Amino acid sequence: MPTVAVTGAGGFIGSWIVRILLDRGYQVRAAVRDPHDELKLAHLKQLPGAPDRLTIVKLDLSSSSAIEARVQGCDGVFHVACAMAAKLTRDPHAEIVQPIVDGTVNLMRACSSAGVTRVVLTSTIGTMYLDPSRGDSAPIDEQCWSSLEFMEETGEWYCLGKTLAESAAWQISMKSELDLVVINPSVTLGPVLQPWQNASSSHILRLINTKFERYLNRSQAYVDVRDVALAHVEAFERQGARGRYLCAESSLHRAELIDVLREVVPPEVAARLPSKMVTGGERAARFVISTEKIRRELGLKFRPLKECLKDSVESYRDKGLLVFPRASPALA
Ligand SMILES: NC(=O)c1ccc[n+]([C@@H]2O[C@H](COP(=O)([O-])OP(=O)(O)OC[C@H]3O[C@@H](n4cnc5c(N)ncnc54)[C@H](OP(=O)(O)O)[C@@H]3O)[C@@H](O)[C@H]2O)c1
Repeated sequence: MPTVAVTGAGGFIGSWIVRILLDRGYQVRAAVRDPHDELKLAHLKQLPGAPDRLTIVKLDLSSSSAIEARVQGCDGVFHVACAMAAKLTRDPHAEIVQPIVDGTVNLMRACSSAGVTRVVLTSTIGTMYLDPSRGDSAPIDEQCWSSLEFMEETGEWYCLGKTLAESAAWQISMKSELDLVVINPSVTLGPVLQPWQNASSSHILRLINTKFERYLNRSQAYVDVRDVALAHVEAFERQGARGRYLCAESSLHRAELIDVLREVVPPEVAARLPSKMVTGGERAARFVISTEKIRRELGLKFRPLKECLKDSVESYRDKGLLVFPRASPALA
């Protein structure tokens, strides 16, 4: 079986990619910043197949020097990690945008020099939808690119970094023999393998663990982490995979997300979920998303959001991430 490397392997999406790769028999190099951090790695070492086929390697994307050795001999690399400063102060370009771009450029150059066949890059829907010239009713799809000016003006630094990083990756791929396929997930939810909460799981955990009076007037698109991980592996395995793939199951207003969440949490949690929206302004329109390409070319059949949220909440409970009592009635 081929040897592949996964950057950000210990994180939320990376862990699920490692799990599917091990299930399919790959030799997997899990690239992490600290290979001695047992807290961050124990869940990977416990995966089926890990004792025989998982190697943990040290890789920090902020220094270009050591990356090539880590990906040498790999048929494929899944570039999942997002290199940005953990603590943000006053300079979003230096702390968010540039590290994301530099990390991806360093990785792509190393893969090109090492003769890696295909890189599967984890980008985001944020590189697609932030464009005021696209009307609310126009579908978001693989042709769409977020406006750099708009992201600067609105302070969408993470999406700006991811957009510049994805563009740089395409440029390197076009100038070299390195084959690139990009997955653009929406807000990713679903069961966590790692024992801590990552940013997107916090989206749901905050709603469950906090008593909010009102919810925001926002719409977002959602997808299950197991489908995002599967999309990455299919993008590597399918010879015909090409270009970008928007990876999203549904698009909902926050009110609708809370309605689905209410159905899968215990009654005492459901009762304290906010039922009123912040005042002022028209209700935000749902995103219109087109996921025809990923369904057709990668064979994705997305899990419905209700199943995703139910499994998310169960996994948060299993990992001790919920603050409501464990003795709560069974989840609906
Ligand atoms: N979750 C979402 O809703 C979502 C949606 C769209 C796109 N994405 C993209 O999906 C990818 C994974 O996100 P996630 O949700 O799984 O986040 P996560 O759990 O926070 O994982 C991110 C990983 O990046 C690694 N990392 C950070 N800086 C690094 C550096 N300088 N060098 C090497 N590794 C570094 C971290 O490694 P350590 O263990 O060393 O800290 C961590 O494992 C990211 O590229 C993100 O932009 C996520």
